[in-house]
Order: sequence, then C-alpha cells, then structure tokens
Amino acid sequence: MSSKTEFGTKLGLIAATVGSAIGLGNVWRFPAETQMNGGAAFLLLYILCVLALGIPVMLAEFSLGRGGRSDAVGVFRRLSPGKGWWIAGVFAVLASYLIICYYMVVAGWTLEYLFESIGGGLYDSLYSGEPAEALRGTFPAKMDDYVSSDLRPLMFTFIMIGVNIAVLLGGVKKGIENLSNVLMPVLFVILIAMCFVSLSLPDAGEGVAYFLDPDFSKITPRVVINALGQAFFSLSLGMGILITYSSYYPADTRLVRTSVIVSLLSLLVAVLMGLIIFPAVKSFGLDREPLEGATLVFVTLPEVFAQLPWPRLWSSLFFLLLLVAALTSTVSIAEVSVAMMQDRFKMSRRRAVLTVMLPLLVFSSACSLSFGSLSDMKIFGLTIFDLLDTFTTDILLPVVSIAVCIYMGWFAPKGLLTDELSNHGALHSRWTGPVLFIIRYIAPVMIALILIFNYI
Ligand code: PFF
Repeated sequence: MSSKTEFGTKLGLIAATVGSAIGLGNVWRFPAETQMNGGAAFLLLYILCVLALGIPVMLAEFSLGRGGRSDAVGVFRRLSPGKGWWIAGVFAVLASYLIICYYMVVAGWTLEYLFESIGGGLYDSLYSGEPAEALRGTFPAKMDDYVSSDLRPLMFTFIMIGVNIAVLLGGVKKGIENLSNVLMPVLFVILIAMCFVSLSLPDAGEGVAYFLDPDFSKITPRVVINALGQAFFSLSLGMGILITYSSYYPADTRLVRTSVIVSLLSLLVAVLMGLIIFPAVKSFGLDREPLEGATLVFVTLPEVFAQLPWPRLWSSLFFLLLLVAALTSTVSIAEVSVAMMQDRFKMSRRRAVLTVMLPLLVFSSACSLSFGSLSDMKIFGLTIFDLLDTFTTDILLPVVSIAVCIYMGWFAPKGLLTDELSNHGALHSRWTGPVLFIIRYIAPVMIALILIFNYI
C-alpha cells in the first residue's frame, strides 16, 4: 500500500516537491502576468501571496497528507470517517486528472521543440545562409505547423505519456525521487547559465529595469486576484499533489522548513525566468509584443535565440529546461491518481499506473487535436483544451483549496496541525497559531474572491 511508501532522503523529498512546484506556471505564466500587471509591483504582490497565504495553505496540505498517510481521498476518510469530507479529495483527484490531460500535450510540444532545436529544423533557413532577420516572423507559422498538424504533436504527446509511465512504474523512491534528484540540479544549472547569457546582452539593463521597476498604478483588485491565483498554481496547491507527496514524507521531516524551501525555490525560479526573458526581449526589440504564455515560449524566445550566436545550443538548453520543468510536474500530478488507485482499489503499482495513464492516450489526444481537426468543436465556446484549462484553474483548484482550508481550520481532528508542524512535540513550533488563523479566516475568503472574480 502506498501509505507505507516513503521518500528515501530529505534532499530527495525536497527535490521531488520542488520539481512539482516548478513548472510551466513559473516559466510562462509568471513573465506574462508580470509584463501585463506592472512589473515588480506584480512581483511584490506575488511574493506577498506566496509568503502570507501560499505557505500556510501548503502547510495545511502537508499536515493533511502526512497526518492521514493515504491518498488525497483516503486522508479525509481516515481522519474523519463517516463524514462527507472525502468528496473534497475526489475533487482534488478530478482536478489533477483533468490537468494532466492537457498539460501532457504542452509537455509534448516542449519535447517537439527540443527535437527541432537539436536537429536545427527550427532554425533551418539560418543554415541555408539567410540572415537571422529573415527568420523573423516565421515562428508563428512554425508554431502553427508544430502544434496544429494532427499527427506530429500527437506522437510527441504519446512519447511523454510513455516517459511518465516509465518513471511512475519505478515507484516513488526509485522513479520519482531519483528522477528529481538528477533533473533539479540540471534545471538550476541551465537557468543560471541562461541568466548570464541574457544579462550580458547589449540592452540587458533596460530589460532588468523594466522587470524590477514597480508600476503601482497597474495594481487593481483584479491584479491582486491574479497574483494570488498565480501563487497557488505555481505552488501546486489545490491539486492533491502536496497531500499525496507529503503522505510519503517520513515522520521526522520538518514541514515548516520544507514549505519555506519549496516556496522560496519556486519564487527564485520565477525571478530567474524574469531575468532571462525581460533583458532578452528588450535587447531584440521584442518587448512590445505581449509575452503571452505559449507565444512567448514558442515564438518570441525562438526569435531571440535566432539572433544569438549558436542558436541551436541556447534553444536546445531552453527547451530542455522546459521539458525538465514539465516532466517533474506531470509525474507529480499523475501520482495523485496512481496513489488513489493503489490505496482505494488496492491495485498493484503497475496496474494503478496503467489504469491511470493509458486512458490519457485518448483524452490527451482530444486536447491535442483541439488545435487541429477538432478545433471547431466548441463546448461553452471553448475548445476541449481551453475548457479543461479554464474549468480546472478557475473553478476546481480554488474549490479544493477552500475545502482544504475549511477542513484543516475547523473540522480536522483536534491537534492535527499542531502535531504535524511540531512532529508530535519533537520540535517547538511557533507557527501553528498564525497558520491556523490564516487558514481559518483569511485564505478561504481570499480564495473565494478568485472564484467570484472569475465568475464575473
Ligand atoms: N506548479 C506547477 C506549475 O507551475 O506548472 C503546477 C502543476 C501544473 C503541476 C500541472 C503539475 C502539473 F501537471
């Protein structure tokens, strides 16, 4: 049973949790939000949301997972049997599963771009002797080709599903933990190298100034809500991931310390991404284009790379970085359903992994094809991909987070939070009081505002 499984080392459990937190949220959502919402003013708000609300809610999920020692549904059943709270767990599993369906497609694009960078296909005309300027304007068509043709993106999505299956079959320690131990250092090395390159570009200073110069006039209630949504998404809250991972934490893991390390590393990655992207786009005059998620990564940045010496090298490194970020996130989110299958339905690891992952061949295909032959199929005016994205991030994730806060704040067994934060009295924890106050009174109200604003 997965409740007996534990991560092998402290470093390993941090690498796995950080790996889950660092994903496309840091790489492409953060720069886009920062550009639209007042540069450093948004950064400050985001930091505030992570520290004041993200960490307490993360601690609520950690305490729930380690205290309940089961999957995202099982923790509620074990801690409060006979009550309906397990439904919150079902919502968490549902959210996580719907997210993998479309996230796997984006992971597939990342792999496709990595291939095209290494092979040079992305920059082909450079190699037939044309100047870099000639490539300008060609990337939207390339993206269209890579993303909207039916077969190619499907093939790469399937490869990513296969890689995820291989890692998950390895189990928590040998699969997920070992993978994270190797990939997290790789991610940081690439990030730092690219930061140096970007900061040494001619107009880097202006880009940094733009990123770090706060424009408080842009801050509206909507922007505050965006910062909060961004903080929660980038910390992997409300998806059942942290509940599941913390059920694998040994009894002596210091939860407060772990939550602070994970949050600060996730913040650091977002800031480093800003230091890579803003100087680069400024230096090549691309800063007036909106740094919107997918276009930023698949159009704007390739244009930047094309102007640099060794475009294939920088492009390959960047898409490898993105692939690492995506892979350590997809395995974490798939583990939520795998753990549930093992614990609820007493399946073997192998059976659980295959039961969870094989249907993705169909579901992720539908998401992938929604850029190609299914692009006309609209539900509530949205393609399948956009529908899943909107339904999960705008509705399910906030609902799960509110439920976790209310449960841990008011209904969980008495002393659960204190016991978990203090490792059953082994540590002196000053944080229980403030954390309890925030998850009781502040966080649910603030998260409810996200729901209301999204509705409006
Ligand atoms: N923190 C992750 C990110 O920023 O991308 C959230 C996440 C999304 C985790 C999707 C896992 C996942 F499959």
